[in-house]
Amino acid sequence: MDHFHYTNGHLHCENVAVADIARQHGTPAYIYSKATFLHHYRAVRDAFAALDPLICYSIKSCANLNILEFLKDEGAGFDVVSGGELARAMAVDADPQGIVFAGVGKTDAEIEQAIDANIGYFNVESEAEMENLIAIANRRNAKIRCALRVNPDVDPKTHRYTSTGQKESKFGVDLERARRFFDAYGREANVHLAGIHLHIGSPVNDVSRYVLAITKGVQLIDELRADGFEITAIDIGGGFGAHYREEEAPPAVQYAEAIVPLLKDKGLKVIMEPGRTIAANAGTLVTETLYIKKSGDRAFVIVDAGMNDLIRPSLYEAFHFIWPVAPAEGFAIQARADAAKLSGLHEQDVVGPVCESGDFLAKDRLLPPVARGDLLAVFSAGAYGMVLASHYNARPHPPEILVDGSDVRVIRRRETFDDLVAAERF
Ligand SMILES: Cc1ncc(COP(=O)(O)O)c(C=O)c1O
Repeated sequence: MDHFHYTNGHLHCENVAVADIARQHGTPAYIYSKATFLHHYRAVRDAFAALDPLICYSIKSCANLNILEFLKDEGAGFDVVSGGELARAMAVDADPQGIVFAGVGKTDAEIEQAIDANIGYFNVESEAEMENLIAIANRRNAKIRCALRVNPDVDPKTHRYTSTGQKESKFGVDLERARRFFDAYGREANVHLAGIHLHIGSPVNDVSRYVLAITKGVQLIDELRADGFEITAIDIGGGFGAHYREEEAPPAVQYAEAIVPLLKDKGLKVIMEPGRTIAANAGTLVTETLYIKKSGDRAFVIVDAGMNDLIRPSLYEAFHFIWPVAPAEGFAIQARADAAKLSGLHEQDVVGPVCESGDFLAKDRLLPPVARGDLLAVFSAGAYGMVLASHYNARPHPPEILVDGSDVRVIRRRETFDDLVAAERF
């Protein structure tokens, strides 16, 4: 599942002791395993090989240029949702035809930027956006390719904030409107409406949700083709799961077993937009225990990473497995499941230093005894971790450190107080 492992009682990332990285680079710090990124990317690629898909890694999940670079070298395209993400893709010399651009609020400047870059697909989310795209493309006499984002109205059975494919969602258009959409915009000279795009939410651990959504998508494509529209692509979005608690996410092959038969021999270019399933388990946030505190009958472990560094627990009540980097005797584990079998654990809240009651990394969590100075590893933090970091409470961003075998490389330095005010001094 990942290349973070306990050896001789100490957490390692690939061949390197996490405590050594923390000693050298300080805490909090994001530590990534390159082998884990590649493992998960290749798992998707190999599982879906029968479809020869364009795998557009979703930059929003973990956007560091160094990571984009090695994924590009593996053959990844990119899913972007802003001019900034497009700039990141272009900064690593991505093949522009392997870039897809989603998002309900693309600005004119972003559309122009994407036309200039000659990207593969605009994933269009509304009639108003389509009219704007057509106007811009016609004014510039530019040829562009689009896919219509369709809401298949499937409940992805995930957190309500990350459910995106239901009828009442702000994303895409519903199935009935999709037919009218093609009638209205499917025969433009400069804007080729070539496919449909689905993204039902994230993480979606129930494979049957994809089967439902893609079946509806394929049925729509059949109908559109019968009406004479030339549909050449289907983008099935992202949303594959990752392991947060134990090993709960289906492996890529399980998604593929269900999805490949639906799309094989359909004469469609298949596009995928995985983010979390590639990045989540490839990153760990390492933090140091500052204080232990009791309030009433609650016990708090106060650490030096806060919601500004990792907001998922505060934002989505997301669960991240947390364990000491060097557990006390009797608390060594090999796999996460071992933790539940141990006796002597205490229920504790792991909280950050930020001035919000919502600033926590774990609530009511059974942990071994922890003391000031102990390092804790917050696992599965590679996706939607650093990318969602903020400067709240004037806290500089932590560094990002990439481990590749025995090699340790800082791929984003720790920010300084000067960085925090640099944009205010001009
Ligand atoms: C359109 C689209 N594609 C892909 C993704 C990536 O999803 P995930 O990281 O769960 O694979 C998202 C995430 O929000 C998305 O909105």
